[in-house]
Amino acid sequence: MCGIIGYIGHREALPILMQGLKKLEYRGYDSAGVAILNKENNIEIQKCKGRIKYLEDMVREKDLKGTIGLGHTRWATHGKPNDINAHPHFSGDHETVVVHNGIIENYLSIKENLILNGYQFISDTDTEVLPHLIQSLYQGNITEAVRNSLKIVTGSYALGVISKKEPDKIVASRSGSPLVIGIGDQEMFIASDIPALLNYTRKMIFLEENEIATIEKNCIHVVNLEGEEIKKKVVYIDWDAQMAEKSGYKHFMLKEIIQQPLVIRDNLVKYIDSGRVNLSDIHLPQNIVNSLEKIHIVACGTAYYASLVGKYAIESLSGIPVEVDYASEFRYRTQLLSKNSLGIVISQSGETADTIAAMRSCKNQVYSELAIVNVKGSTISREADQVMYINAGPEIGVASTKAFMGQLISLYLFAIFLGKAKKQLSGQNEEKILNEMMRIPHHMETIFSQDDKIKSIANQFSNYQHFLYLGRDINFPIALEGALKLKEISYIHAEAYPAGEMKHGPIALLDVNFPVVAIVPRDHVYHKMINNIKEVTTRDAPVIAVASESDEQIKEIVDKVIYIPDVQTILSPLLSVVPLQLLAYHIADILGKDVDKPRNLAKSVTVE
Ligand code: F6R
Repeated sequence: MCGIIGYIGHREALPILMQGLKKLEYRGYDSAGVAILNKENNIEIQKCKGRIKYLEDMVREKDLKGTIGLGHTRWATHGKPNDINAHPHFSGDHETVVVHNGIIENYLSIKENLILNGYQFISDTDTEVLPHLIQSLYQGNITEAVRNSLKIVTGSYALGVISKKEPDKIVASRSGSPLVIGIGDQEMFIASDIPALLNYTRKMIFLEENEIATIEKNCIHVVNLEGEEIKKKVVYIDWDAQMAEKSGYKHFMLKEIIQQPLVIRDNLVKYIDSGRVNLSDIHLPQNIVNSLEKIHIVACGTAYYASLVGKYAIESLSGIPVEVDYASEFRYRTQLLSKNSLGIVISQSGETADTIAAMRSCKNQVYSELAIVNVKGSTISREADQVMYINAGPEIGVASTKAFMGQLISLYLFAIFLGKAKKQLSGQNEEKILNEMMRIPHHMETIFSQDDKIKSIANQFSNYQHFLYLGRDINFPIALEGALKLKEISYIHAEAYPAGEMKHGPIALLDVNFPVVAIVPRDHVYHKMINNIKEVTTRDAPVIAVASESDEQIKEIVDKVIYIPDVQTILSPLLSVVPLQLLAYHIADILGKDVDKPRNLAKSVTVE
């Protein structure tokens, strides 16, 4: 949802801004721009429609020199992607520029007022009200002009402002959209996320809602909307720059799929102590566990599908009922919550607008809100009562893979922790599950070793227009996730159904041109799945099965089989999702799609 980068220091700003924009491109990629304050104290803007590479070609021809600047990569909300609507945006007097991520919801009324006062607008964006408003309120102090402007606007924003009136500063603020400040040696940075800054610094400051930072090359001053000074903590980030590189893989998505065994290992090392789950950071006293009546999980997209797997795991291991909601639905529906319930929010980025809103909407209505998050310092990680990190490292591919794996493993560990606390799970069974979990990374390698076969299946199926994914029980959410992966990166229509539901409608779609992907491990619903597969093949639809290694019959009844090692049912999603990620990846790659940056999508959805 738009990426922002800013630099102030002793180096040329342009290369730093361009490198930062490339790292942020996954957040939005329909236009991009930079503004540099040059030695003559003029602000020069270069911006254009399209990917960063077009901006790169554009700035190569120009002599953009200066040590202060802002950059932006856009995911359009208000105003079509074109050169004019691209950021940065100038004030009418060309003295001030703004880059913005978010939506100014009351921009129309502000715009009308400004027009009445003689201000002229050239773009169709909501953002353009900001530089004009800041200009209109400027009385000798740029921070105050920004602060007074932010008192007027409603909506969400992360923004960076530079002004030739005070050429030694960047003013930055956020509310509802992420922004991090990086601290270097005689230089400072702003960015929409941490990986964009890892080449320069690991010392970061995270702004809270409505805080306004005045950033000079060697100092930062933060105030709130009321103008009161705020002391900020410097956080040291333990990710390194290499973690945010492709490291020889063709795409980030492929690298991130292959990293999944590592994500599992890292979490097991962190959360298992002497053969037992140890979630010492989570505070759930025994009396609270005893009286827990329900768990509410909210999330969006892939994190929502991980939550559904979590529901099966928590209910079966602890006996506590779990309700899972889309955050965008939960925030607006009647919420029947009680202090005897626990809220869980799941988010890779920790910045998804609907998930944040859902979390805020049940604040203090449940015993506690636990966030299962990847990005440290993110809004959700700061606002939740408790945090469990999924330790997946930076996820750059827009389609989530390793974060999904981190979410699953965290939910399993949490389910075991609850099962033990509720005395539903014996020490012996805990040991059995954990022992099997420890073998999952190795099992995954055996799936990776079938990659050539998966690629060849992808080749044979890449020209179909529709796919149906089927699964049952704990593998139904994996069917949903497999279908999501395929549609978001290959643009092929795919939908998922619980296999037993198929004959209540979707079966009408099936024919020789409508392949079905069936997740059919040898578990308690195996024979039901086999019946459903027969219903499919009877209608001539081709079937790709994800099946257990020990299943010798399956190859006789389906067209293609990808085998996964036999594990106990509850853990099978950790393996069954991997071939589906690879299948989607290869189909999209064969079709020549931009796997890491699919059209219309952005990595973190910071608008509603
Ligand atoms: C799909 C995908 C999205 C995200 C969703 C939530 O591959 O990545 O569906 O899962 O936008 O994002 P987070 O987890 O950052 O809240």
